[in-house]
Amino acid sequence: MKKIAVLFLGFFLLTGQLRADEGMWPLIMIQQLQDSMQARGLKLTADDIYNINKACAKDAVVRLMTKQNRMFCTGEIISGEGLFLTNHHCGYGSIQELSTNEDNILANGFWAKNKAEERKANFNIGLLAKVEDVTSKILDSISLTMDETSRAKAVADKLTKLQASLKEGLGVDKDNYVVDVVPFYAGNKYLAMYYVVYKDIRLVGTPPENIGKFGGETDNWMWPRHTCDFSMFRIYVNAENKPSDYNTSNKPYTPQHFFPVNLQGKNPEDFAMIMGYPGRTQRYTYSQGIKYYSSKERPMRVKVRRDVLDVYEEFMHADPKIKLMYADKFAGLSNYWKKFMGESTALPQQHLFEKRKAEEDKLKAWIAANNKGALYNEMFSLYDQAYAQLDKYGMYKVYMDDGISNSQPMVFAMGLSKLEALLKDKSKTEEAKKVAADMSKELDEQYKEYFDPIEIKVLATVLMHLTEDLDHANLPKELVDISVKCNKDYSKMATELYAKSFLTSKEKMIAFLANPSLKKMNKDMIYVITSAYLNKMNEMRPITMDINNKLGRANRLFQAAMLEMDSKKLYSPDANGTMRLTYGRVLPYNAKDAVSYKEFTTSKGILEKYTPGDIEFDAPKKLVDLLKAKDFGQYADKDGELHTCFLTDNDITGGNSGSPVINGRGELIGTAFDGNWEAIASDFGFDANLQRTISLDIRYTLFIMDKFGGAGYLLNEMKIIK
Ligand code: ARG
Repeated sequence: MKKIAVLFLGFFLLTGQLRADEGMWPLIMIQQLQDSMQARGLKLTADDIYNINKACAKDAVVRLMTKQNRMFCTGEIISGEGLFLTNHHCGYGSIQELSTNEDNILANGFWAKNKAEERKANFNIGLLAKVEDVTSKILDSISLTMDETSRAKAVADKLTKLQASLKEGLGVDKDNYVVDVVPFYAGNKYLAMYYVVYKDIRLVGTPPENIGKFGGETDNWMWPRHTCDFSMFRIYVNAENKPSDYNTSNKPYTPQHFFPVNLQGKNPEDFAMIMGYPGRTQRYTYSQGIKYYSSKERPMRVKVRRDVLDVYEEFMHADPKIKLMYADKFAGLSNYWKKFMGESTALPQQHLFEKRKAEEDKLKAWIAANNKGALYNEMFSLYDQAYAQLDKYGMYKVYMDDGISNSQPMVFAMGLSKLEALLKDKSKTEEAKKVAADMSKELDEQYKEYFDPIEIKVLATVLMHLTEDLDHANLPKELVDISVKCNKDYSKMATELYAKSFLTSKEKMIAFLANPSLKKMNKDMIYVITSAYLNKMNEMRPITMDINNKLGRANRLFQAAMLEMDSKKLYSPDANGTMRLTYGRVLPYNAKDAVSYKEFTTSKGILEKYTPGDIEFDAPKKLVDLLKAKDFGQYADKDGELHTCFLTDNDITGGNSGSPVINGRGELIGTAFDGNWEAIASDFGFDANLQRTISLDIRYTLFIMDKFGGAGYLLNEMKIIK
């Protein structure tokens, strides 16, 4: 019996059947994957990973959320005292905010010597309590033939009501929860997610930026990698171990579960799984959509964004104060600039359009053969119409996101639209005054990260792209007019508009808000252009709604049809910011003809890349000395080297940043922080041969914390497996 099994296994390996699957699996699906995971080396049961009635792995997975509860990253609890790990680039915003020019912990790093020194961070975290299938509660009275606008409204109403009633049902503790009802498979299924939200989060430690972001933008999305992309935080709670606002009397959280840390290292093919919060994928994008994104949406977005980034870089490189000021904004924009840029070349290279087309043809044939045309056929024409419309109108939104929204004065202008409406209504003068007074209070915060030379140049760039790139048919006349008037000298135009605008400094804004008037707004050309652009977007709303309706309906039908056609196959739904599990192995890869990569890097690579004085490849002298001396202690691999990063074939995307990489016994071996260049377009399509997750080896994390940072005392609260 055993022999046969082994033989079979060999056969599957040879034919590639045991390759990694695509799949960011919702936790309520993993019972069905247990056998497959165990066949690949998982020693746990699905129940050890997700069970709402007992402590399990999911209890140690942290959802990083802004103060407004918007998810942005993942983390993992590694001690019985609520200590958790995430990426450096996830803690970045908090670290920047806690930095001053005098005490620049972003540049220099930081380790709390004891709990009292831990510093208040600017985000919340959520812990997933349970997942509930609420599909029937949402869809029971929604008919298939309902028109899309009514449907969307009916669903949205039900969803809001259901969220409220589920939360109400939680009783006395309800205010500690966020309940999200989230669509899966483009609205064919709905799941309710219950999170307990903790608000007192504190920074425990971070490496200096030239370790935590070593390699900078150049190495971002690339392998081989040597970035020590981690930071450490702690969850604080009240005396009952329940969530509480920040309070010095709070105590460290006692978790239901935390991950033991494994220092033994790993071998190629070892089982590895990742649990975390992937944000968004679009793996079911229609062929025309692939074409739209690769030939139009991405290239145009990338062009504007690059020019904005160039302005940032010019000034950031010249002055450390400006670098600190714009660091977080720059990192975020740059990260996705590179990704979008990669997508626009990778999508055609990987022939994703042709592949999708072939899948769609197969689906069409199945629909015809099974007489399903009445139900499904409309989706094909809906797609064709929607993408034709997007081709014409889609860019105005792109330039809203990457143009207008990247110019601070324009963003401030957008913030005044409510005030404008009130000023227009004579009966609302008092209310207008109150709104203006409230806005005044926000100004310190708004102008904190604001530097005139950058903002003038960005304004010029944005004005240039708006007028040069977009079809004038839907551009505000005011914008076109002044570009003609200044003879396309955008720099001159920006300088003039900037000087005359009240949006461009805190003082001018204070003066305006003390005595707001429509007249002043109408004279301010930055205000006028921005609000005219907003108005155009509003005028186009019926068209954009129509596009969204068509795509919404088509996507829902498309995914329903796929699920019906292959009813035996387990389809993994697109990422949507809910907890997922992906399993695979530690694995090298062949990048292209003649290029193969090992599955791990070592500290030798840091010394190879090390470039004193370089903005991306400098490193602290202390680190260089430690690495040269090979003083790795218990963090060395059995080969004597310090392993820094490694690859697995797990399926992740943005949002997974900071996720635990777990071995077959449920122990932590690393922290996921990136994907590889060859699979940069993986949000649109998964390629098992190319897709790799890049993770930070937990031994490098602890080496930096202990030997470099001198925070070895934190090891005492962890469970270390040597
Ligand atoms: N590429 C990484 C991700 O999306 C983020 C890296 C952030 N670092 C940076 N250099 N901008 O998860």
